[in-house]
Amino acid sequence: MTQKTAQPRVLIFDTTLRDGEQSPGATMTHDEKLEIAGLLDEMGVDIIEAGFPIASEGDFAAVSAIAKRAKNSTVCGLARANFKDIDRCWEAVKHARSPRIHTFIGTSPLHRAIPNLDMDQMAERIHDTVTHARNLCDNVQWSPMDATRTEHDYLCRTVEIAIKAGATTINIPDTVGYTYPFESAKLIAMLLERVPNADKVTFATHCHNDLGMATANALAAVEAGARQIECTINGLGERAGNTALEEVVMAMRVRNDILPYQTGIDTSKIMNLSRRVSAVSGFAVQFNKAIVGKNAFLHESGIHQDGVLKNVQTFEIMRPEDIGLTATNIAMGKHSGRAALRSKLKELGFELADNQLNDVFVRFKALADRKKEVYDEDLIALVADEATSDDNNHLQVKRLRVVCGTEGPREAELTLMIDGVEAFTDATGDGPVDAAFNAVNMLYPHHAKLQLYQVHAVTEGTDAQATVSVRLEEDGRIATGTSADTDTVVASVKAYVHALNRLIQRRKKSAPDSDVKMVSYKQ
Ligand code: KIV
Ligand code: ZN
Repeated sequence: MTQKTAQPRVLIFDTTLRDGEQSPGATMTHDEKLEIAGLLDEMGVDIIEAGFPIASEGDFAAVSAIAKRAKNSTVCGLARANFKDIDRCWEAVKHARSPRIHTFIGTSPLHRAIPNLDMDQMAERIHDTVTHARNLCDNVQWSPMDATRTEHDYLCRTVEIAIKAGATTINIPDTVGYTYPFESAKLIAMLLERVPNADKVTFATHCHNDLGMATANALAAVEAGARQIECTINGLGERAGNTALEEVVMAMRVRNDILPYQTGIDTSKIMNLSRRVSAVSGFAVQFNKAIVGKNAFLHESGIHQDGVLKNVQTFEIMRPEDIGLTATNIAMGKHSGRAALRSKLKELGFELADNQLNDVFVRFKALADRKKEVYDEDLIALVADEATSDDNNHLQVKRLRVVCGTEGPREAELTLMIDGVEAFTDATGDGPVDAAFNAVNMLYPHHAKLQLYQVHAVTEGTDAQATVSVRLEEDGRIATGTSADTDTVVASVKAYVHALNRLIQRRKKSAPDSDVKMVSYKQ
């Protein structure tokens, strides 16, 4: 009898809450981080990198809370190569059923110059810090940052030291998205061949997408022997982002004939996670994004539509339901009740508590009064909009009227609730949005700069809702606000006020984004 051998398991290490959240403006609140971590845990992610505990009190609190709650996933925190970072990281992750410390240092010539260490001094630091981490925790990951631009001999030497000092996972970061698939595979193969005891640890691949090759580079590394992929939902991350979780997982599933590896991911949860991460980070998913983009399963051309109707496999390599995309885009209307809404939201992956459902229901009814048919996308936008209607917000939009048209001036009359007190003003501007934003600035003066203002139509038709994203920057802190409404100006002002509320929260809770500086490693 021939026995089918089990395929090698590739561990999925999700860093949406650390590397993803590092993306300027993608900052998430404490509750949002907990929600995303809960969904990642349920989806079967092996390791959740929950944050950078020393970066701020907020990060520390989020990592500890996630560590306490995770049911299945290992919970990991990031630490630079110094004792203070590592101790703080351990304090946060130690509550987990399965904790991990991830410590790193830049090993390439450019990165060695920053702490001004020569090769020997850095080697000593790697030894000391990994040993320190391993004395605290059995599960230690070490990363030579910018590994793909590090001299091979030196990379082998540092990896050997980290393994000797007790690292259990060696992660090879392509920090600036510089490598390409053939080279990515060769690097892992070289390390496995040259470094003593390399077969005793797990090798991981951590790719950035600056040249659009993060997915290909990660999969090439796996073919060469890496058994952990570091990735984020929607490929969220600094600059062009990280390897997208959904892409590597679905590639190994769809092309299992040539990528014979298994993961523990329940792929039917991908779409929901993608939507939630997009909503809480304020980063819209591009329409043509692989796997989770709005157009990923749409067939516009006649030839494609005809082919798909006759045999779906002619133009589809995976089924929408494989990633949890339900094909029932049945419109809801003003006669739909609370139970129908609950069941529809459940189908879309949202299980809301009663009070949240009540709130969404009120806004759904208001929307259904203005819009003939409410589609799945409208409901997703309504749920995503929930944060903007939080009663605890400092600023709330109470009333807005704008005057616009071919004849000037464009005027806005705005009533805001500021800490529960009503304030009114009128203002003019270059257009209705500019006038309305000027009115907000008059009622709540601040010096945050507008970095991004983006409008998307949620569905087709002139009665479509618009989702608006606004990104603000103030003293190095960045916050993104989003909102949806059939009135673009209302959505714009709500998104602006949402971003301001997030900045106010950040001012209170944490230091600026750039507050983490290199500190001496034995502090
Ligand atoms: O890209 C990178 O090098 C990182 C490290 C901290 C692992 O994110
Ligand atoms: Zn990274």
